[in-house]
Amino acid sequence: MRLPSLDARLEAVLALIRAGTHADIGSDHAHLPIRLIAQGRAERCVVVELHPGPLAHARGNVARARLAARIEVRAGDGFGPLAPGEVDSASVTGMGAGTIAGILRRAGEGRLPPALVLQPNDSPGPLRVWAREHGYHLRAERLIPGHWPYPVLRLERRPGDDPAYQGLPLAAALRYGPHLLREGATLLRRQVWADIVRLTPLAAPGRTAQTQLETARAALEVLGGDGH
Ligand SMILES: C[S@@+](CC[C@H](N)C(=O)[O-])C[C@H]1O[C@@H](n2cnc3c(N)ncnc32)[C@H](O)[C@@H]1O
Repeated sequence: MRLPSLDARLEAVLALIRAGTHADIGSDHAHLPIRLIAQGRAERCVVVELHPGPLAHARGNVARARLAARIEVRAGDGFGPLAPGEVDSASVTGMGAGTIAGILRRAGEGRLPPALVLQPNDSPGPLRVWAREHGYHLRAERLIPGHWPYPVLRLERRPGDDPAYQGLPLAAALRYGPHLLREGATLLRRQVWADIVRLTPLAAPGRTAQTQLETARAALEVLGGDGH
């Protein structure tokens, strides 16, 4: 069997998953669950798809990979088709942060597993805020080059405050990522500088751009300040 190849973004998601039973919500092609099973990173997967086209795509690929006994494809919205406690990990990738946040909100606490890997196509800030408000700690973050920098977050349900944010300016850590800020990756540094260049002419007292500029400057300070 020829395994499906993943782009760099989904390779990063794959590397952050190890599970007994994993759910891939909004899977489309089902390439991620096929690779999870083939590489022994999950024992069993459930694919959830909302739309008929991607649902058929996922079913066809799972059948061709001869993995129908270990990857079940279900039609439905988000975590709705899963029983509470059925999966111990889930991924939601390749969608806007607002769409992902909606899927998490509609799931309710009961259906959400203790580990989540999220890959929004835009700013992950709202997902970091959601995690802090719903008892998840940010355990790992990646920023993957592509059409634009793709954020990948691994969250784990843990008690108490998330230690990842300790000692960091909160607004900057929520916007740019506490682990990414500490690592000081070049891609993040470029993103912060791009924000500073874009926001500087727009900023004025009382404007949102002013607050955003202050957040970007606080991030730059954590990153060590100079150099583009
Ligand atoms: C852009 S594709 C991303 C596919 C894959 N996850 C990836 O990262 O390459 C988004 C997929 O999510 C599905 N989708 C969107 N909202 C959904 C929801 N609420 N529940 C299940 N699937 C959903 C769409 O049908 C589509 O196949």
